[in-house]
Amino acid sequence: MKKPKEPKAGEKMSPAEAKAYVDYLYETMYARWKQKIDAGQFMTQLRAGKLPMPVIRRFFKNWGRFSLEVNGLNAVSYYIHLPFFVRNFDLLGPLCAKIADELISPKPPGHVLVLLKTAEAMKLSRQEVLEDPYLPEARAINDFTHKIFMDGSIAELWGLHVFEESLSHWSGQWFKALTTHYGFSKSQAVYFSTHEEADLEPHALGDTGVEAMGHGAFNRAILERVLQDGNIEFRAGYSMEYCALAMIDLHAQMKRAAMENPYP
Ligand SMILES: [Fe+2]
Ligand SMILES: [Fe+2]
Repeated sequence: MKKPKEPKAGEKMSPAEAKAYVDYLYETMYARWKQKIDAGQFMTQLRAGKLPMPVIRRFFKNWGRFSLEVNGLNAVSYYIHLPFFVRNFDLLGPLCAKIADELISPKPPGHVLVLLKTAEAMKLSRQEVLEDPYLPEARAINDFTHKIFMDGSIAELWGLHVFEESLSHWSGQWFKALTTHYGFSKSQAVYFSTHEEADLEPHALGDTGVEAMGHGAFNRAILERVLQDGNIEFRAGYSMEYCALAMIDLHAQMKRAAMENPYP
């Protein structure tokens, strides 16, 4: 895909230019995802039912810790980027719904409940998932995420969030593999069915009666508005494309680390 005009600090993009750039970011992210995650050894073996359970356990143990912390960081980002959402007040509701979704669906404390349910089916305890130190190669994705959430501009942060939509397709593959090859019931694989839906489709926000946007669609809407804002910082070395692709590379690294360090 031809690269559209790169956004710059202080420059407003038109809605059409912003959409073209966001479409480009997503296509670029998906191309990297197909190569490094979808066609990678880990997912290829998982889909075939050939990935050893100790590798699955190691991965999920590390992933669980990351997912808990990233939901905490999302809550912090509400405060850090509040001025943007006050300027773009129509986006504040969907932002709150997305942050709340991770914390209250299906009920408080939120997605960590479905995470622990799937962990239990993998014979992983809450302590093993949420308290044990994780592998250095596996925590790199978390530490990069932390850096961008704390130091990054809103452009960097939503560049990073581009990655989230890939988790819907990835979760669908996990759900299918666990329920067809590994003897998991649908309710045991609930972490993955929850994310296949939440990261792509509109869905119920806990039991509030409110419908939340799919996280991917929400992220795309924010990015388009960020590019039209004209009041956004772009630090050297942290383009939105870099932030999106680094997440795919670090996700692939967590997978390699699990394959090299099975957790019996
Ligand atoms: Fe989640
Ligand atoms: Fe999500």
